[in-house]
Amino acid sequence: MSKPVRLEKPQKKDYPAAQAYLALLVGSNAAAQLVERLRRAAVRKAPARDILSASHTPMAEVHAFDWRRKNKDIQQGRKQSPILLVCGKHGDALVIADGFHRLYAAFTQGQDFETLSERSKVSKKKLADQICQALWVHTEIEEQVFYPAVRQAIKDDDLMNEALVEHAGAKDLVAQISDMDPDDALYDAKMKVLSEQIDHHVQEEEQEMFPKVRKANIGLVALAARA
Ligand SMILES: [Fe+2]
Repeated sequence: MSKPVRLEKPQKKDYPAAQAYLALLVGSNAAAQLVERLRRAAVRKAPARDILSASHTPMAEVHAFDWRRKNKDIQQGRKQSPILLVCGKHGDALVIADGFHRLYAAFTQGQDFETLSERSKVSKKKLADQICQALWVHTEIEEQVFYPAVRQAIKDDDLMNEALVEHAGAKDLVAQISDMDPDDALYDAKMKVLSEQIDHHVQEEEQEMFPKVRKANIGLVALAARA
């Protein structure tokens, strides 16, 4: 099996990806600060197995990952960036801000991996609770004010129903996470799935709903005032 070719520093695109993920956990300002510190952090090497264990990543998730796709990248000589990590306070899980799949592939080959890490001062539970609360407020405002106006204006019930079902799924996960302890085996997996669901939802809003909203010329300023 070919040895992966490693980059000495993360690529430019790795930082915004890490920042978008961290923003879901710690909010935009804290995420921007953490990424600034990650940009200045030194590259270190750590066994992939230790990183996975410290991040409390469920091994079922690692084994389910289609690592052959990533191995193809490695065999074709595509260079692999270091992984971006954020350490919590003592006892908190390590947050993999960017590089899940590179790490999973490295683990299956029993390799060490280059990492950049920074330390977050706020506990994971507190951060997760903050993001869950913010998401709850956001979905409520959209459902009570924004979506009814959009539904009436764009006349696309399928799109609006899909958005509501996605909100319901996210709110269900938020409720589960709020009742959980960070030590629970599924805590990190639920946070990760929530972030993936929100990612998908935001993409659909931005790419499908918002262009129709712009075309329909809804009075957004008046709507914002009602919210
Ligand atoms: Fe939404």
